[in-house]
Amino acid sequence: MDSFRIVGPCRLEGSVEVSGAKNAMLPLMAATILTGGKCTLENVPELRDTTTMMRLLAVLGVPSTLEKGTLAADASEIKSFEAPYDLVRTMRASIYALGPLLAKFGKARVSMPGGCAWGPRPVDLHLQGLKALGADIRIDHGYIDASASRLRGAEIILSLPSVGATVNLMLAAVLAEGRTIIENAAREPEISALAAALNGAGAAISGEGTSRMEIEGVSAIRPFRVRVIPDRIEAGTFAAAAAITGGRVEINGCEPDHMHAVVERLEACGARVETGPGKMTVQGPGRIEPVNIETGFYPAFPTDMQAQMMAVLCRARGASSIMERVYSERFTHVPELKRLGAKIVLEGGVAVVTGVDSLQGAPVMATDIRASSALILAALAAEGETRILRIYHIDRGYERIEEKLRKLGASIERIAG
Ligand code: EPZ
Repeated sequence: MDSFRIVGPCRLEGSVEVSGAKNAMLPLMAATILTGGKCTLENVPELRDTTTMMRLLAVLGVPSTLEKGTLAADASEIKSFEAPYDLVRTMRASIYALGPLLAKFGKARVSMPGGCAWGPRPVDLHLQGLKALGADIRIDHGYIDASASRLRGAEIILSLPSVGATVNLMLAAVLAEGRTIIENAAREPEISALAAALNGAGAAISGEGTSRMEIEGVSAIRPFRVRVIPDRIEAGTFAAAAAITGGRVEINGCEPDHMHAVVERLEACGARVETGPGKMTVQGPGRIEPVNIETGFYPAFPTDMQAQMMAVLCRARGASSIMERVYSERFTHVPELKRLGAKIVLEGGVAVVTGVDSLQGAPVMATDIRASSALILAALAAEGETRILRIYHIDRGYERIEEKLRKLGASIERIAG
């Protein structure tokens, strides 16, 4: 398994280009199932998750190619309706096949996704919503067996604004008979991007980006061409990298409008952030001020930036608290950061981080996509060499991160094996 070797400390300087958003690209790839034809997605990041979703589509009978960031998928001859365990267990978003297969073909068999490093990842909201649309749902030997002669519009109230449930229900409801209301829908930019693509392909969705979404069922969704929106979490990660190294990084090809909560917290800890159309420049502070972070559903501070901000606050002048309100156990990065000298105490869903003058390089282990990026940030600021093992996690969600960081002056290399 590959690892990263990073030698710090360094001060990042220069500009970086943000890739397309993983969490926008995955729902759009699943949406091709609805179209019965050839779709094109531009600005697609070359990630492990992209490859996994291409493999899943291929299993269903949707061949696809990815060339220089452009993905072409042909959904004209779907021949299977089953998403196998070995794919779903490597990427939870495989469950996005459920809604469109059910809507278009009236049947789907999708493996239940497992848990992850931060505990169970239930899908009850997905299944309750699909049942409300008239699907018959059974769990059989770890698989979700779903069938429906024709989905019918319904009023669905989500107990949590789940991104995944909102995606699955949108992909099911666009072809249902009649009107569907999703109350307490997720408001992430990736949801709005999916709605825009579906509307461009003949759907009738309104209210996207708000908590109440209305979907008038239509008879068909046409093949579409769409450009994937910038990855706000990758952009936030590079902004945090500027903050922790005291550097100055120009982040191009991003969407500052999707990042208000992250920019606000970075400025609170002393970074200077100038935003413009499609870009932002982040000047890290000489000394990082402690701040309190509370994650929440969009537009609150994103849980996917929690680990990265924790790394920054390990170098703050004082104590910060981080409250994780989306995944209460999303702290697998804590013991690894402590190996680098960080002072962090966990008390029931809250991490208290006491800043230290310096971190020391050490061997550490990546546990998930965002925890890996937090370890990279800490390693860039640490004194000496850090080896980060199991970096296949980071390859799931960041495109060529070591190249981008080297261009900014980091000493980072990928060690194969
Ligand atoms: C999406 O995951 C993202 N993944 C996650 O990003 C992100 O952390 C998460 O949204 C929250 O923003 C993708 O978009 C592919 P949820 P998802 O359903 O859809 C609970 C990354 O690093 N819940 O919004 O799985 C759940 O336990 C990944 O890119 C239920 O209880 O998240 C959690 O507490 C990590 N029942 C909360 O809702 C359900 O049926 C939010 O989960 C579904 C979710």
